[in-house]
Amino acid sequence: MSTTAKLVFPDGKETDLDVIVGTENEPAIDISSLRSKTGYVTLDTGYMNTGSTKSAITYLDGEAGILRYRGYSIEDLAEHSDFVETSYLLINGKLPTKDERATFSTQLTRHSLIHEDMHQFFAGYPPTSHPMAVLSAMVTSLSAYYPDSLDRNAPVELHITRLLSKVRTIAAFSYKKSIGQPLMYPKNSLRFCANFLHMMFAVPSEDYEVSPVLEKALNQLLILHADHEQNCSTSTVRMVGSSGANLYASIAAGILALWGPLHGGANQAVIEMLEEVKLSGGNFKGFLDDVKNKKDNRRLMGFGHRVYKNYDPRAKILKKMCDEVLVHLNVQDPLLDLAKGMEEIALKDDYFISKKLYPNVDFYSGILYRAMGIPTNMFTVMFALGRLPGWIAQWKEMVEDKDTKIGRPRQIYTGEKARPYVSQEQRG
Ligand code: CMC
Repeated sequence: MSTTAKLVFPDGKETDLDVIVGTENEPAIDISSLRSKTGYVTLDTGYMNTGSTKSAITYLDGEAGILRYRGYSIEDLAEHSDFVETSYLLINGKLPTKDERATFSTQLTRHSLIHEDMHQFFAGYPPTSHPMAVLSAMVTSLSAYYPDSLDRNAPVELHITRLLSKVRTIAAFSYKKSIGQPLMYPKNSLRFCANFLHMMFAVPSEDYEVSPVLEKALNQLLILHADHEQNCSTSTVRMVGSSGANLYASIAAGILALWGPLHGGANQAVIEMLEEVKLSGGNFKGFLDDVKNKKDNRRLMGFGHRVYKNYDPRAKILKKMCDEVLVHLNVQDPLLDLAKGMEEIALKDDYFISKKLYPNVDFYSGILYRAMGIPTNMFTVMFALGRLPGWIAQWKEMVEDKDTKIGRPRQIYTGEKARPYVSQEQRG
């Protein structure tokens, strides 16, 4: 294959651009020299077809429904790995040896507390605060407690472990605060996910035993969310980090980008949509008609994806998990039946078929979180907890890449041409 592509301009001029091919044979045209060579920039609103970086972390083939972290399939990892091991894999590029795993787990356990002074911050928020607002603010605040994170030449390993461990504690504390219960401190004898469930659901007056079914389900849910290459929040982490902002600030920015209903906020929006349909007597056919007619810009939340034009492999695993976990927990959720009914109809409908709209990761994850006792406004926090190792891995890869430049897209200006200033008197 030629290593250059030729671009021919309307005036007949030509230029050669380098062609780069990834490990999985994805070809790309390197346009970084285009403007200096020709004066042209490219326009790609929403970065629909722009590669912003080279990355060795996650491979995604949206047409074939393939997702791999560091070469390992999402199906294998969800089945055989746990969240701590997958986090290590994403961040370090390889599965840990026994010793590496033990050291990593010990570090995560050791750094699970947050500074006692930070407890006052939780107290300062009104009980109605969305936990994503609290989480993002707390993560930014961590940089104030670990000021050496501002030194770009200082080692980052400890900050990475701290962040992974403390976000779990912050997430659980923000929930306890929202329901007015005392904060439960982490318990060092528990594994990562079990410890989170303990901080969420234990109360000082009662013994709490972590259900192995819940622990396994949580591990799987977090693994499925752990990375997804250059999505909106990950690109935000890289963009903010490219200015030299510290790890905590970059991740806090990613958390905020995730919050929107078109991204990580969709899991909350799916449950709200299903609740609404249930309240209307379960008339999901009517709801789907409204979606197709774009009534009030309605969308079938949890459906569609910028990259997947096939069934999202994560949604496939989640649908199966829903069936198994709900049976184990003896939970009957009418929303699961509604979701399945809507999916069945949508997948046979021309509107969804022609636009290649399939269930994405958010369609079934909320039903699982509900069954686990996690409230709806915490769903996006759960997504953030899962996505954290991916954000960290992408931030680290960006910082370590000698070719990294500050993120700074161009634009095509469509405003007024130069005009003289008009004084207030002349304007009337
Ligand atoms: N329901 C109904 N119509 C849809 C939907 C949907 N969920 N998604 C896309 N469409 C239509 C859209 O109206 C448009 O139609 P038309 O061509 O007639 O204007 C067409 O499909 C293309 O949509 P788009 O918004 O241009 O596509 P996009 O790639 O920019 O958007 C998306 C991707 C995920 C934002 C979109 O599919 C969506 O809004 N889905 C619902 C929200 C959701 O579930 N988000 C979670 C994504 S997965 C988790 C994550 O990684 O963030």
